[in-house]
Amino acid sequence: MEIRMVGWGSPLMAKALELRREVFVSEQRVPLELEIDEMDETALHFLLLLEGEAAATLRLLPCGNRVKIGRVAVRRELRSMGLGTLLMKRAIEQAIREGFSEAVLDAQLDSMPFYARLGFFAEGEVFMDAGIPHRAMRLKLA
Ligand SMILES: CC(C)(COP(=O)(O)OP(=O)(O)OC[C@H]1O[C@@H](n2cnc3c(N)ncnc32)[C@H](O)[C@@H]1OP(=O)(O)O)[C@@H](O)C(=O)NCCC(=O)NCCS
Repeated sequence: MEIRMVGWGSPLMAKALELRREVFVSEQRVPLELEIDEMDETALHFLLLLEGEAAATLRLLPCGNRVKIGRVAVRRELRSMGLGTLLMKRAIEQAIREGFSEAVLDAQLDSMPFYARLGFFAEGEVFMDAGIPHRAMRLKLA
């Protein structure tokens, strides 16, 4: 198992995007045109590889002194094994190392317990994004 930081346009990025497409577009029915956006080019992407194959991915988007975590996806048959948690911890560690004071994310309501276990707190109202109910969550880093 290895976790790599992946540059936009690299061969590993193609693997990360393929996994995102499988999870968000095929499984969750998010429209393809919303799945990849203009922020992807500048985001810091993480990819967890198991025996060379993409197993989990996420992206970090710097926004002032905060970092926004998004597109968190674990291959369906590899869930509930701790891979999502491992990848989130690695990304949070990186955000701390780079001096960000807070991590924020928009959690699908079903995934809130996953983020709460990592220390994130929910705030604000439930809102819809790509037809899925979400709630903002945040974690103080400094
Ligand atoms: C959410 C997700 C990234 C979690 O990854 P994972 O590798 O399965 O997570 P871990 O194994 O590290 O942790 C699992 C724990 O998180 C919590 N959890 C994760 N998904 C959950 C869900 N849908 N409902 C309730 N709890 C959930 C549970 O506490 C779970 O523990 P359990 O397996 O013992 O019940 C993964 O389920 C996924 O890719 N889902 C589809 C895409 C998605 O919805 N992404 C989140 C967008 S905000």
